[in-house]
Amino acid sequence: MYIDIICAVPQLLESPLNHSIMQRAQDKGLLTIKVHDLRTYSTNAYKQIDDDQFGGGAGMVMMIEPIDKCISLLQQEREYDEIIFMTPDGEVFNQNMANELSLKKNIIILCGHYKGIDERVREYFITKEISIGSYVLSGGELAAAVVVDAIGRLLPGVLNNESSALFDSFQDDLLAPPVYTRPAEYKNMKVPDILLSGHTAKVEQWRLDQSIQRTKERRPDLFKTEED
Ligand code: 6GU
Repeated sequence: MYIDIICAVPQLLESPLNHSIMQRAQDKGLLTIKVHDLRTYSTNAYKQIDDDQFGGGAGMVMMIEPIDKCISLLQQEREYDEIIFMTPDGEVFNQNMANELSLKKNIIILCGHYKGIDERVREYFITKEISIGSYVLSGGELAAAVVVDAIGRLLPGVLNNESSALFDSFQDDLLAPPVYTRPAEYKNMKVPDILLSGHTAKVEQWRLDQSIQRTKERRPDLFKTEED
């Protein structure tokens, strides 16, 4: 998969995308991430990428021209399945969207900054708008890192145990069950006996029960009974 990220502060994306599982995905050639600094595409001497808004009002607005230039250049190289804009008023990101996006070949992610972005960018270039939750961040870069991480770990071959992403919380609308490791007893705190029993079927049933109980308690919105 090929992901181009266009943003105003590329430094914010360096660390999250170049370590751990995202680094491994790139080293294995399963994922290519290119970060593009919008300022490079500025058309004036001050490297300006934002300007005052028409009609007056506080806050700068990201200009259409540098964005158009960058996107057009990328489109000369390849065809994109989606051009995504990261914005707090977008569709709220979830595991389903991550699953769907992980099936795409080439995507562009444009990060918002400042007060907003010239609406014509959204109207004419953007195919999908994503928010990562109901709060406001200073820019779309950290949100883009979240989305790329969620997508990247789903690509076949990225995780060591290929099946492990299938058992993540949310993949079946259930939260993951509790897990334990050695020692079996620590300062009087014990691991549930069932996990030490060696009964695979009973362990699986216990895990499912725990998942259901957890989901009911913590995320009743995810939990659907058969009648729903
Ligand atoms: Cl995508 N961008 C910004 N600036 N804030 C957010 C967001 C995105 N998602 C939630 N808050």
